[in-house]
Amino acid sequence: MLDAYGRVIDYLRISITDRCSLRCRYCMPDGVDLIPMKDLLSYEEILEIALTAAQCGFRKIKVTGGEPLVRPGAVYLVFMLKKIPGIGQVTMTTNGILLPQYAADLKEAGLDAVNISLDTLSPERFAFITGRQELNRVLEGIEAALSAGIRTKLNVVLQKDVNDDEWEALMLLARERPLDVRFIEMMPIGAGQNTEGVSNEVLLEQIIEKYPGAESDFAVHGNGPAVYLRIPGYKGSIGFISAIHGKFCRTCNRMRLTSTGLLKPCLCYETAVDLRSILRSGRKREERAERLAWAFAKACSEKPEAHCFEREEDITETKKMAQIGG
Ligand code: 5AD
Ligand code: SF4
Repeated sequence: MLDAYGRVIDYLRISITDRCSLRCRYCMPDGVDLIPMKDLLSYEEILEIALTAAQCGFRKIKVTGGEPLVRPGAVYLVFMLKKIPGIGQVTMTTNGILLPQYAADLKEAGLDAVNISLDTLSPERFAFITGRQELNRVLEGIEAALSAGIRTKLNVVLQKDVNDDEWEALMLLARERPLDVRFIEMMPIGAGQNTEGVSNEVLLEQIIEKYPGAESDFAVHGNGPAVYLRIPGYKGSIGFISAIHGKFCRTCNRMRLTSTGLLKPCLCYETAVDLRSILRSGRKREERAERLAWAFAKACSEKPEAHCFEREEDITETKKMAQIGG
């Protein structure tokens, strides 16, 4: 689909649950309210939406959460999404904890790539950031994804005075393993509003100072706005997703579907089209398909030119990241 600013919108991020096995301070802090199960879309509903999305020109789907793998049947969903004509790529963002259990099945289901969130290599800091003692399982999850032959990226969010001294140790993971390590700037959404991040501009300067041989890497690495560096001797690349200090909205290609069926044109604003009410309206399948397609067109036409993270008072989204899907 083409939006009002001439951007091709062909990437849909689908949050399949707001549940998560971790409680990252900036995403889903302890004590957060969970959405009643009946309000979440069923897999049948998600697949119906994805079918229409493919007919509207969407080509890539990201399965996210919360933590998608805590929802029973997530592997089945990946398998079914991969079968939809027109959908080329299905990828997943996960905290990695359940990958030792599911990586081989996900590969068999056709998953094209996985993004694993990992902010620290220190067990104490991991417990501080995520509220749980699960670092080892995440590290095992990374190895499981690689062993299963799934293309793997690590998502790192640096926080000032928490883990900002670990960029080099985290980068080193890409030296021996064929995975990309990507630094994501903290975005002022949900609890991220009260958490101080680190500027990727500053980080990049530090990296280039320490690794003067680093070179820009123009190869396509995925669907997103990351820019990459290659460091001599490294198997993987180092990526930067700089939502704040490198606004990339001009090339935005995505929309988001929340676990309750809200289709969001932009992460920053609460504007959304309710697809669940169409699915649960009691109408016939063909009529639902028509209305869903119309809803996609409406959301696309309402896609704003850019986010306003630099003017926090203008941000209208109040949901937590775990409810939106990152
Ligand atoms: N800003 C940036 N990234 C965030 N994530 C969660 N909340 C935020 C935020 N406020 C990241 C997680 C995970 C991905 C799903 O989104 O670290 O890698
Ligand atoms: Fe869970 Fe990921 Fe949010 Fe952490 S960042 S609470 S792992 S969804």
